[in-house]
Amino acid sequence: MSADDSAADRHPDRGFAPSAERNREPILAVLREVLPPTARVLEIASGTGQHVAHFAAALPTTHWQPSEADAAMRRSIAQWIGDPPLSNVARPLALDVHRRPWSSERFDAVVCINMIHISPWSATRALMIGASEVLQPAGMLFLYGPYRRGGAHTAPSNERFEAWLRGQNPEWGVRDLEAVQDLAADAGLTLERIVEMPANNLSVLFRKTAAANRPQ
Ligand SMILES: C[S@@+](CC[C@H](N)C(=O)[O-])C[C@H]1O[C@@H](n2cnc3c(N)ncnc32)[C@H](O)[C@@H]1O
Repeated sequence: MSADDSAADRHPDRGFAPSAERNREPILAVLREVLPPTARVLEIASGTGQHVAHFAAALPTTHWQPSEADAAMRRSIAQWIGDPPLSNVARPLALDVHRRPWSSERFDAVVCINMIHISPWSATRALMIGASEVLQPAGMLFLYGPYRRGGAHTAPSNERFEAWLRGQNPEWGVRDLEAVQDLAADAGLTLERIVEMPANNLSVLFRKTAAANRPQ
């Protein structure tokens, strides 16, 4: 039996996303720069839990609340954050962005990686309103993923990815950054910074500058 086999035995529900393994370090580098040292962070769509386990271990003075709509993913998150046990991560929350209010807690940051292209546009709208509601004044929303800019794809690989996404579900798709920015502005979130990331992805940072003015 290999070391991998025994890990699989100990963590039968632990999922593994190769993309999360590839992008976790570049994303961590941005988070290290932009998160306050003792930030309380809500992660939306935590997926397997690889990211939250990595970020919480690397940033031990921050505190993380992972969340997921999918129950199998929540079991995976629990296993990723449980071994080795991380004292700065809460148990995963059952959270579908469409169902608000998300939480009575308030956070310094909301992090959402690779969700908005793989869910309907209504999820992006709900994400903006929900994030604005749970963020402290001047809190930060961090998004990561592929985007169209100025109405066009930024790379042929993103165009192929979009075709694949639409084939999976016609409501999914690589979003226009400007349209995302407009929804954010409606929710009182102002675009602060865009960081170009490997593989034609972007980190996009919004700052809460006002209360949401179009709750829905
Ligand atoms: C491509 S995965 C990304 C997971 C993880 N953030 C990562 O980067 O590895 C997309 C995730 O979005 C979640 N998701 C889709 N629709 C959602 C919704 N309405 N509310 C919350 N999460 C949602 C899915 O369950 C899935 O885990």
